[in-house]
Amino acid sequence: MTLRPMLATLPAYVPGRTVPGAIKLASNETPYPPLPSVLARIAEAAADANRYPDNASVELTEALAAKYGVDVEQVRVGCGSVSLCTQLVQSVADADEEVIYAWRSFEAYPIIAAVSGASSIQVPLTGGHVHDLPSMAERITGKTRLIFVCNPNNPTGTAVGRDELVRFLRAVPADVVVALDEAYREFVTDPDVPDGLTLLAEFPNLVVLRTFSKAYGLAGLRVGYAIAADPAVAAALRQTQVPFAVTSIAQAAALASLEPAAEKELLERVAAIAAERDRVLAGLRQLGYDVPPSQANFVWLPLGDATVDWAAGCEQRKVIVRPFAGAGARVTIGTPEENDRFLAAAGELAG
Ligand SMILES: Cc1ncc(COP(=O)(O)O)c(C=O)c1O
Repeated sequence: MTLRPMLATLPAYVPGRTVPGAIKLASNETPYPPLPSVLARIAEAAADANRYPDNASVELTEALAAKYGVDVEQVRVGCGSVSLCTQLVQSVADADEEVIYAWRSFEAYPIIAAVSGASSIQVPLTGGHVHDLPSMAERITGKTRLIFVCNPNNPTGTAVGRDELVRFLRAVPADVVVALDEAYREFVTDPDVPDGLTLLAEFPNLVVLRTFSKAYGLAGLRVGYAIAADPAVAAALRQTQVPFAVTSIAQAAALASLEPAAEKELLERVAAIAAERDRVLAGLRQLGYDVPPSQANFVWLPLGDATVDWAAGCEQRKVIVRPFAGAGARVTIGTPEENDRFLAAAGELAG
């Protein structure tokens, strides 16, 4: 038996830990369960589970195209946006061609690139934990096929502004695809952070990735989507999809979440979480922690070598956070009560 040698060097994707009795603030999930109207549609769809799903997610694709005022040919639904990240790399990069992304950023990018046989070019974040877009532009070569820009960035929560992003996009050659990963877009409150969809008209090489996992609270069902400026990119995502990857239940739940009354309620929850994020961030700074500004549903504590011990201290206090050894800890915003418990733990561990 011969396995690919690359597997021996592949970083492991570390999911947030679940510990009975502890609060889980480790996976950037929403703390709130699906709405009753969504649960009802999930149950209805489950009754047809003997059938394969609609492979093209036609109804959901049409609903997304109508919501955003784009052509259905520009939209592709996937089994979570992480799957669309994978399909994008598979669509554009042959062996040894290059994928550029910031580091530290979403921990799936290096795994996806390596498994696809592409080379990763990791460009360090600035001292302020933000994408260093000018340096990323400088790393483009004739081998570059794809650039991920994660905005807001996971795990730091930082976001780049419109002018900076537009300057960068203008510097990228037209044959290099830019994937703007906006998994946390709905939590953005800073008006200077652009909605990637407003940039599609100017940049034919741009594709925006979004998900129902975070703001819409469907992480367990796995459904995300891509909206590409160029329908050819969406067509490539269709070609590289694992057949029937998006289940009927996921499609039904996403559609139910887009209905006006449901979406309104979900986005009210998002606004409440964003307000809690600002409260937690201010509370941490008051305790003396260095915390970069966040536009997502989590905050980042760049604790360096102290990270692992600090996260263990949180766990002893029944709060599970997500440590990145030697770098920092990411803490997801939960309910107000959960956030209070986290702040109390952080207070005990401060200094
Ligand atoms: C930046 C970013 N992109 C994509 C994803 C994937 O989300 P999903 O596959 O659940 O849609 C995540 C999830 O953590 C993320 O943080």
